[in-house]
Amino acid sequence: MTTSRATNIVWHHSAVDRAARAHQRGHRSAILWFTGLSGAGKSTLANAVNSALFEQGLSCYVLDGDNVRHGLCSDLGFSDADREENIRRIGEVAKLFLDAGVVVLSAFVSPFKADRRRARALVGAGDFVEIHCAANLAVCEGRDTKGLYAKARAGAIKEFTGISSPYEEPEAPELRIDTGDQTLEACVRDVMDYLAAAGIIPAAP
Ligand code: ADX
Repeated sequence: MTTSRATNIVWHHSAVDRAARAHQRGHRSAILWFTGLSGAGKSTLANAVNSALFEQGLSCYVLDGDNVRHGLCSDLGFSDADREENIRRIGEVAKLFLDAGVVVLSAFVSPFKADRRRARALVGAGDFVEIHCAANLAVCEGRDTKGLYAKARAGAIKEFTGISSPYEEPEAPELRIDTGDQTLEACVRDVMDYLAAAGIIPAAP
């Protein structure tokens, strides 16, 4: 990196703040942080929850691992340091969405506890909902939707989560969802019920 840190920068406070946006939209914003192995169903569940929120007229947006790595994080690989930087950037982007009044759903493997803890620490209590998509390795490898586990087992992909790079399970996530066994509909219902009970979204009519 050749960039130097900027100096002489002053934080601007906006007259339109998060509370004003929540009042106008009729719902709070939050970060729904989906974490789990590749193939656990993070993107599928995040997108299905996003659709359910959208149908209720709520502001929502999905940040997806594979997509973000094509743009914002296209300079990063899968070393521990690159994953840390990937999650740091996503945490900061998610915080901007939170301020913009949006329910933001982030779907990244985010395998390291410390990185998830840092993302959580950027925002207030109750703003960060960690959702462990808890399909186990056997299930994810059995699905192998992208053929990546087979490549990782063959040594063609290095540092693959669950095979040659660790996944540190969340100890106390707000939600742990059995994305290995439950239907997608049941998983969506679990998330929506939690959001309504936590007062993040209005209770279902
Ligand atoms: S993270 O570890 O930095 O959070 P991220 O969610 O952005 O990972 O990207 C994971 C996705 O990249 C996986 O779903 C998979 O499709 C792909 N991928 C490619 N190489 C790897 C690897 N070595 N480990 C994990 N996922 C990988």
